[in-house]
Amino acid sequence: MVQETWTAVDDYFDGLLVGEDEALRRAAADSEAAGLPPHQVAPNQGKLLHLLARIRGARTILEIGTLGGYSTIWLARALPAGGRLVTLEVDARCAEVAAANVARAGLDHLVDIRHGRALDLLPGLTDGPFDLVFIDADKPSNPQYLEWALRLTRPGSVIIGDNVVREGAVVDADSSDPRVQGVHRFTELIAEHPKLTATALQTVGSKGYDGLVMALVTE
Ligand code: SAH
Ligand code: DHB
Ligand code: MG
Repeated sequence: MVQETWTAVDDYFDGLLVGEDEALRRAAADSEAAGLPPHQVAPNQGKLLHLLARIRGARTILEIGTLGGYSTIWLARALPAGGRLVTLEVDARCAEVAAANVARAGLDHLVDIRHGRALDLLPGLTDGPFDLVFIDADKPSNPQYLEWALRLTRPGSVIIGDNVVREGAVVDADSSDPRVQGVHRFTELIAEHPKLTATALQTVGSKGYDGLVMALVTE
């Protein structure tokens, strides 16, 4: 199977099921126009995050890695009135583009975009506990992000990590890529944690071949 097929299949299901609307399309378009890297989740992955948040009944969401706010919009739309999403972004330009995209989507009353290094911002967060944490920033820091996610969640919370497959690079045990090493340590920490139960899925689609880890905080 080739990329062309993966994209066509995504297009097929996106057209029927996913419901990417104008605010989301414009968020992606404006991110691209602003020169941000094309690293946002695919529409069907955004919808998956949205559904997981709704299935969980999430009232509080933490996102690490905002980019232009594309995944932020999907997640924030899962929140009930009075809900809260905090998203952390190190790049000032990204935070600015995201703020405009979130405002245009009519979600700025639910979303708090914090500008800075996530590891500097996490100790100061007072909005927890969070019902869902989406970890999608610099992959070498994933082990630390997991530690913070555990501190900032409660039993029943869901922790999701993006980009854990990287075209299969994850199976190179001796990889010198710090992103792959970050994913290895992240996955090992999840595996050995007594209060987490988890799985990982490989994904193909319009964004290529990658995957995600999903963990439930059990107690
Ligand atoms: N969640 C977004 C994509 C995020 S891409 C979506 O799916 O729409 C990863 C983002 O993490 C980039 O915007 C990058 O600037 C940000 N990032 C990288 N290192 C970071 C750090 N140390 N702290 C906070 N954000 C960081
Ligand atoms: C990269 C980062 C992401 O969060 C993503 O979804 C895709 C790619 C990257 O750094 O290459
Ligand atoms: Mg990602």
